[in-house]
Amino acid sequence: MTSSPISTLSNGVQIPKLGFGVWRVSNDDAIPSIAKALEVGYRHIDTAALYRNEEGVGEAVRASGIPREEIFVTTKLWPTDYGTDAAVAGFEASLKRLDIEYVDLLLLHWPAPGRDLYVETWRTLERLAGDDRLRAIGVSNFHSSHLHRLVAETDTPPVLNQVELHPTLTQAELRATHRELGVATEAWSPLGQSEDLGDPTITSIAERIGRTPAQVIIRWHLQIGNIVIPKSTTPSRIEENFDVFGFELSDADVAAIDGLDSGNRLGPDPAHFDG
Ligand code: A2P
Repeated sequence: MTSSPISTLSNGVQIPKLGFGVWRVSNDDAIPSIAKALEVGYRHIDTAALYRNEEGVGEAVRASGIPREEIFVTTKLWPTDYGTDAAVAGFEASLKRLDIEYVDLLLLHWPAPGRDLYVETWRTLERLAGDDRLRAIGVSNFHSSHLHRLVAETDTPPVLNQVELHPTLTQAELRATHRELGVATEAWSPLGQSEDLGDPTITSIAERIGRTPAQVIIRWHLQIGNIVIPKSTTPSRIEENFDVFGFELSDADVAAIDGLDSGNRLGPDPAHFDG
């Protein structure tokens, strides 16, 4: 079976570069979707307390029969659980719902600057990460300013920042900050929630090389160094999205996709979202 290439995070923990996202997937749908994903070779599942499907994720992981250490599981703490005591309780509640012994990666889901609690909450995550229930800690939806503040005021840089990133929102400046700080880039809504699949540049590359638009976009993410977590509940698409290791985009095609950025943000702007 094909497997995803691996990236080594700044704390030495290894993460499969191509993972499976389950945002907007119910507990009931998560179970067969993850079963299919694991069957075709995905070994990295991305959930969050907010998604209300951690029970389904845990059940699918346990039911797979695949050894726990072969599957990388990320979850996220929602801003209403920020603050020292609330963060510990929030993490423990996620772990209980998942019921999979430990979490590979816990992220602060949003900086929620209006709450002004992400630095304090990060210090709590630093303490939790010393424990055998949590292997790595990171952030999500952080702008460069939030990352710089976190790095200046705490001891441990986040291993990664998971942000909205797709061909029409390429986040070039933020990716430069990540390189400078040694933070890996992870892309959510990597297909632009399917909007970017119909872009004429993408469809023409796909037609020319005999691949689908989704495969072209996922390949672009991998070739520019992103960790990428496409979401699908459709079995044929789950399989199609993992079938991206038998071809490469040319430098010219990667550059053409890099040029599609139009600042097309589909989710909230993290500067003004407090959860
Ligand atoms: P579905 O789950 O019904 O298969 P993103 O990961 O950027 O958020 O995009 C997810 C959206 O893209 C979902 O609506 C999903 O639909 C759709 N999608 C995922 N993979 C493919 C694919 N290979 N072809 C077409 N649409 C896809």
